Amino acid sequence: MNPINREQQVMTEAAVALKSIARRPDVKSSVEHNPQLYRLLQRAAARYVTGDQQSQALAVAQRLRHDGYAVSLEYIGENTRTLAECEHATQELATLITSMGQQGISGRVSFDLSHIGLLLDKELALQHLLQLGELAQPLGIELFISMEESAKTEYILHIYQQAVAKYPLIGITLQAHLHRTLEDAAAVLSAGAYVRLVKGAYEEPSDISLSRSAELDQRYIELFRLAVERGCHVSVATHDESLIASLLELEWSGAASVEFELLYGIRPELCVQLRQQEQPVRVYLTYGQEWYLYLCHRIAEYPPNLFQALIDIVDGQREEPVMQYVTSSFDPNHSTHSAT
Ligand code: FDA
Repeated sequence: MNPINREQQVMTEAAVALKSIARRPDVKSSVEHNPQLYRLLQRAAARYVTGDQQSQALAVAQRLRHDGYAVSLEYIGENTRTLAECEHATQELATLITSMGQQGISGRVSFDLSHIGLLLDKELALQHLLQLGELAQPLGIELFISMEESAKTEYILHIYQQAVAKYPLIGITLQAHLHRTLEDAAAVLSAGAYVRLVKGAYEEPSDISLSRSAELDQRYIELFRLAVERGCHVSVATHDESLIASLLELEWSGAASVEFELLYGIRPELCVQLRQQEQPVRVYLTYGQEWYLYLCHRIAEYPPNLFQALIDIVDGQREEPVMQYVTSSFDPNHSTHSAT
């Protein structure tokens, strides 16, 4: 095997290993019960997670908004299996929405439906979503449903359709990698709908999905065209610079309803570059005690981040992660961005 193929194979295997580590309760428990290890890994997580407290996420959100970015906030968690956990997560999201309202942060709150009850009972997840919608809608806060594994897609889309009929500020994430998604988009997206387009984070069988490829990028572009033509508010959620460049060459360029959305800590220099080109950019912030899961996901989707994690553990970070987003040329009085 040549060295390049060997390197790619190691990276692929590392990604699979990290995804499985992320979900192994024994590994999680040993991290949580070893204070030294916990602190070390937390140093690596600080690049991607604003902190374990809501107030930390809100403070970073204010800093970023001041610099012309829009924000999304997520309380990290998924696949909760008890009623108490689902209710706790819903309550946390409710206080997040209320705090955003009080602090004048009219951004977006994102979550997995499996965090608020989907695994227990679809009706429960819908009821929790409607409760949050009732709170968020008058404050102008968007609620964004993340997309999970393909086994849940049908349920998630169904719940989205029921909820958005009542609260139009509820948005949906669509994964370009699934073969079904173009049809789903055509079926569920109406004019004015809020949609986030992602490539897809989950390992799916090849008969229902595409892996990273030019074909996937092409499908992403098709999906984008469909959403723009439908008159949707589109969030282009990718860190892929060449895909972004292809989208910027399309005719929609400059349309008010399109923005770029990137995860906090990933490619901040790309965010700055886009802002300097006067493109609207949203930064997706996370917080919560489940940062360990989130760290593993971020490394698994781009295994070179493992080296970054090592550097962060040994050296700490040279500057506060939020400082990497500063756009010195930004003039709040001449922003093209509504910073919602
Ligand atoms: P892709 O994986 O194609 O990589 C292209 C390039 O981007 C890489 O070469 C590298 O330069 C850079 N890059 C990508 N990931 C990086 C990382 N972690 N660190 C550093 N550089 C990186 N998925 C899902 O299934 N359901 C969901 O609800 C969401 N929600 C969501 C919201 C937002 C705001 C974003 C940005 C992403 C998601 N995702 C998601 C994740 C998404 O599906 C996808 O897995 C990741 O964004 C990685 O794919 P990209 O398109 O960014 O780049």
